Amino acid sequence: MDIVVLCGGLSQERDVSISTGTCAARALRERGHRVVLADLFFGRPEAVEDPRALFSREDPVNIYAVGEKEPDLAAVRARRGGRGLLGPGIVELCQAADITFLALHGGPGENGQLQACLDMYEIPYTGSGYLGSALAMDKEITKCLFAQEGISTPPGITLHRGDAGRTLPAFPCVVKPCSGGSSVGTSVVTDAAQYEDALSAAFACEDTVLVEQYIKGRELTVGIMDGRAMPVIEIIPRQGFYDYKNKYQAGLTTELCPAPLTPEETAQIQRLAEKVYRTLHLQAYARADFLMDGTGELYCLEANTLPGMTPTSLIPQMAAAEGMDYGALCERIIEVSMKKYGRGQL
Ligand SMILES: Nc1ncnc2c1ncn2[C@@H]1O[C@H](COP(=O)(O)OP(=O)(O)OP(=O)(O)O)[C@@H](O)[C@H]1O
Ligand SMILES: [Mg+2]
Repeated sequence: MDIVVLCGGLSQERDVSISTGTCAARALRERGHRVVLADLFFGRPEAVEDPRALFSREDPVNIYAVGEKEPDLAAVRARRGGRGLLGPGIVELCQAADITFLALHGGPGENGQLQACLDMYEIPYTGSGYLGSALAMDKEITKCLFAQEGISTPPGITLHRGDAGRTLPAFPCVVKPCSGGSSVGTSVVTDAAQYEDALSAAFACEDTVLVEQYIKGRELTVGIMDGRAMPVIEIIPRQGFYDYKNKYQAGLTTELCPAPLTPEETAQIQRLAEKVYRTLHLQAYARADFLMDGTGELYCLEANTLPGMTPTSLIPQMAAAEGMDYGALCERIIEVSMKKYGRGQL
C-alpha cells in the first residue's frame, strides 16, 4: 500500500508523536509498504507539485527518542512561520495515498479537527472519526457520558479561567487540563500550598481545568481493537505518578502485561473498556485508562483515541502479549480502520 504516516503537528505531545511516527513508518516499510513520513505542521513542500513521486523514494527513517520535557511550541511555530496548522503538501500527499496513518497525539490531530478536515477531502485515515475523537478528547464531556451510562469516574469539578471565588477542594486531589494528554500540566496535589501552582500549570495549557478526587489504588489500562478488549496492563511508576517523564523514559515505570488480576477482574475491566469504546463512539482502536481502588471499584479516567506507539508505549505491549509484533499491529490498525470505508482487507 501507499501510506502517509502523519506525525508532529503543533501539540504538546508533538515529540511523542514524532516517536510514534518514526516507529510506525519504519515498521510499515519493513512490511513492504511504500511509506512517506510527514510532519503535519511542516508538511512536505515538494509534494505540492508531484505527491506520487515521494512514495517511490526511500528517505531513511531515524527513530526519534522523546526528551524529558515537552517541546517549546512557540519555537516550533517560529521555525515555519505563516498561518495554518496544515503544512504545505499535506492534503496532496494524503490524497495520493491509499490511507493516512495518524501517528498524532493531542491537539488538533487527535481532537477531531483533523479528522473532520480529512473527511472533507475524502482522505481515509486510521482511528476514530471526528465525533468520537472530539468526545474522548474532552474529559468533561467524557465524564458526562460516563455518568449517563453508569461508568464510574473520579468525582470532581470543572474550573474555567477567570472563575471567581474558588473554594479549596479536599486533598489529595488531581488537577489537570480538560483536553490534555501525556500528563502535561497535570499535578497530584496533597495540600493547599501546592494548589495554586497546580492550577497555574494546568491553566497554562488551556482555559478549562478539572480538579478530581485523588483515587488511591492500582493503575490499569486496556486497549480496544475493533471493539474488542486487548490484554490489560498494570502500570507501576517507580516514583510519583504516571507523569510525562515516567511515560517516555525507558526503565522509570514497570508495566505488567497481562496485569496480575483474577480472571473475573480481568473480564470485568475488559467489558468496561469495551463499553467505554461504545459510549464515546470510538472506532478502529483506542485505549482506556483506569484506576482500581482498595475495594476493587474501577474508575475510568479517560479514553485515548490515538494512543502512543513509542518504544515505551502500552498498546504495543498488549499486542505483543497476544503474539502480534509491532509491524503486524500497525497493519492491523490499518485493516480495522479500513472498515470505516467499507474495505476490510489490506
Ligand atoms: N483522579 C485521579 N486519581 C489518581 N491519579 C490520577 C487521577 N487522574 C489522573 N491521575 C494520574 O495522572 C495520569 C494522567 O491522567 P489522565 O490519564 O487523566 O491524563 P492524560 O494526560 O490524558 O493521559 P494520557 O497520556 O493517557 O493521554 C494518570 O495516568 C494517573 O497516573
Ligand atoms: Mg491517560
